[in-house]
Amino acid sequence: MHTYRAHPEISVLGDCLEVPGLGFLAVNAFVIHAAQPVVVDTGLGLPDRDFLASLAALIDPPDVRWIWLTHPDRDHTGGLFALLDAAPHARVVTTFAGAGIMSAERPLPMDRIYLLNPGQSLDAGDRLLTGFRPPLFDNSATVGVLDTSTGVCLSSDCFGAPLPTAALATAENAAEVSPEELRAAQLLWATIDSPWVHGVDPAKFAASFGPLRDFGPSAVLSTHLPPVTGDSTTLFATLLDAPSAFPFTGPDQAALEAMLRQFQPA
Ligand SMILES: [Fe+2]
Ligand SMILES: [Fe+2]
Repeated sequence: MHTYRAHPEISVLGDCLEVPGLGFLAVNAFVIHAAQPVVVDTGLGLPDRDFLASLAALIDPPDVRWIWLTHPDRDHTGGLFALLDAAPHARVVTTFAGAGIMSAERPLPMDRIYLLNPGQSLDAGDRLLTGFRPPLFDNSATVGVLDTSTGVCLSSDCFGAPLPTAALATAENAAEVSPEELRAAQLLWATIDSPWVHGVDPAKFAASFGPLRDFGPSAVLSTHLPPVTGDSTTLFATLLDAPSAFPFTGPDQAALEAMLRQFQPA
């Protein structure tokens, strides 16, 4: 896992996952170095990953006070329980739905939960972190973070994009991807991660960008894209086209068998 600062007060733990036929998807987690340090998401849980060891290069794990789980999908919960063990004062920021989803596999201890809905804020000692519902999401428990001190937005799955190489997926700035390629990849991801977007009222969908647009982020940190710094106008404009993007259909069994035949000896 590659670690770096996307902002003087925010570290990235950058990882990626190959998605056959689509490319490489960034899987980022973050540390907001607030007075009460906040870890945002906890990466992949694959056997060869050690989230806690990677995190320890950035912060002493017992110092972590909050684990903000943007949503309980498995690419966000990999290091969650190891971190809860290592950080005895940390509580998991999630929603009622998020805690409920976790309870189907491994319940979160009730005394370690802090329930926060979009529009509510967490006091991290030297700043308020405000929850918001990103315009696109694949899990009803999703709550992104608006850091009122740095102006940085942590957008969960929203704005993600599969990229052609692992090097690009783990790049330290999305500006390394050409604007045309980034737009196409973000629209593809939007249709994969949020297929419901094809059924929305475009005006209501546009209005859902309001809280984020009003915040005017200085940077957007997605779990599934290298950091975007500076003006977000292009980011918003791209996703506003998602309702009319070509719907994604994954490979079916016939396609899988055709692919497997290519690997059989003649
Ligand atoms: Fe997700
Ligand atoms: Fe995700």
